[in-house]
Amino acid sequence: MALVASGSAQANQTISNTALSERVQTSDEWIRTRTGIQSRRVSTPDESLNDLAVRAGQQALAMAKWEPDSLDLVLLATSTPDDLFGSAPRVQAGLKARNAVAFDLTAACSGFLFALVTAAQYLRTGAMQRVLVIGADQLSRFVDWDDRSTCVLFGDGAGAVALEATSAEDDGLLGFRLRSDGSRGHSLTLPQIPTSLPLVNTTRHQCGGYLPIQMNGQEVYKFAVREVPAILKELLEQTKTTPDQLDWLLLHQANQRILDAVADRFSIPHSKVLSNLANYGNTSASTIPLMLDEAVRDGRVAPGHLLASSGFGAGLSWGAALLRWQGPA
Ligand code: ACO
Repeated sequence: MALVASGSAQANQTISNTALSERVQTSDEWIRTRTGIQSRRVSTPDESLNDLAVRAGQQALAMAKWEPDSLDLVLLATSTPDDLFGSAPRVQAGLKARNAVAFDLTAACSGFLFALVTAAQYLRTGAMQRVLVIGADQLSRFVDWDDRSTCVLFGDGAGAVALEATSAEDDGLLGFRLRSDGSRGHSLTLPQIPTSLPLVNTTRHQCGGYLPIQMNGQEVYKFAVREVPAILKELLEQTKTTPDQLDWLLLHQANQRILDAVADRFSIPHSKVLSNLANYGNTSASTIPLMLDEAVRDGRVAPGHLLASSGFGAGLSWGAALLRWQGPA
């Protein structure tokens, strides 16, 4: 599997920390020093998740110089679909990828990495030749904008990568590890509203709908700074790679302190840690491809570069992958 091209899309509105402090009791100083975030992007009411995903996908197709109908699969990693039955088919239609099958994959902030590894299986078996993996989320819909402990952290966005089947020697997925632990899932949830309504006679039914994001920030923080270095260590051992061989560390963008702590654990200089969360906050499944696309377009990530990537989040779920960026032909 080769990583051929990337794309991204930002939501329409920018909300600075200072602007947010007009809504909740917080400050630019508190948010910047605790998280590294300076502003986030929030979708306007007329901007759908599908819009963001299609825009990101179109950019990746343009970079790859692929016709949309050459795609075999559109895999959409999202926890915030426009339609609970699945948003990927609408994205597929928006992209005019007529020959592609399309489905959603949900694994919160690990979603993009899980989707990338899933896509690689189709490409490695020869079942498919070209896949678009899109990570897109609009957490702004599910944040309690009056809860300062969560609302300052999240934003909306989308990122995409175009993947192509390749020979085993040129495979750009050099190794991966994926993990889930539902027994710790309570520390970060976007749960159903518990309901019990009369149906007929003595029967009752539930009603669909979600509470805002519920998070124990300190538990999630401890989980991230323990599990991400552990899984990256396993990945490096599995692939016989040393930290100094890495060109870039590409982590889920949740908190600058988490990025720095993980880098320090491996003595990786902070200059090799890709970070754009100052401008976007945590955009869930989209952070990794959004960051990758920015770094590809400004030339930091170049063909042949080796990247260690790790995603982590609700589930709890986490994973790591060693990737070689190929770029377009
Ligand atoms: N502004 C000002 N004060 C605040 C704010 C805010 N926005 N939020 C919380 N505080 C206050 C708290 O009330 C508390 O006050 P108190 O001491 O009087 O009780 C104080 O600041 C410290 O709160 P903590 O929660 O201890 O702050 P902490 O240093 O742990 O930072 C943070 C909080 C930034 C949320 C951190 O815990 C974190 O980043 N955790 C990881 C979160 C994460 O990455 N989540 C996403 C995972 S990915 C996914 O799947 C979606």
